[in-house]
Amino acid sequence: MPPLRITLSFVLCLLLTATFATPVEEGRALYDQHCARCHGADGTRGLFGAKNLQKSLLSDSAILHQITNGRRIMPAFKKRITPNQMTAIANYIKSFRKSSV
Ligand code: HEC
Repeated sequence: MPPLRITLSFVLCLLLTATFATPVEEGRALYDQHCARCHGADGTRGLFGAKNLQKSLLSDSAILHQITNGRRIMPAFKKRITPNQMTAIANYIKSFRKSSV
């Protein structure tokens, strides 16, 4: 029954993608590429007055707003990364918070 086999391999593909390309990994790669030069790999570098992300308490929507539009020295990223990538980054930087407590 070819259709069933096709369906099964499709499901398998989805599972593999979910396992290996997790948003956290994507968020980390994007963060290292776009944000770490000011904020540091762990969020504490503070170059140009960049906020310490381990102490930041911004809501999800405020983080996305800040990445999209920038603020003072921080550049806007809306032309460089997609909304999905911003969400991945936002989830990743929130993981810094737990390590500080
Ligand atoms: C050119 C340096 C620079 C880069 C690159 C940069 N930032 Fe920033 N970031 C700043 C500065 C400076 C501030 C403080 C701005 C302010 O609110 O006055 C800041 C503030 C923030 C805040 C607000 C924290 C708070 O509690 O107010 C968040 C969240 C943030 N950055 C995330 C990011 C993310 C995510 C990226 C990568 C997509 C990034 N930043 C890239 C310099 C930078």
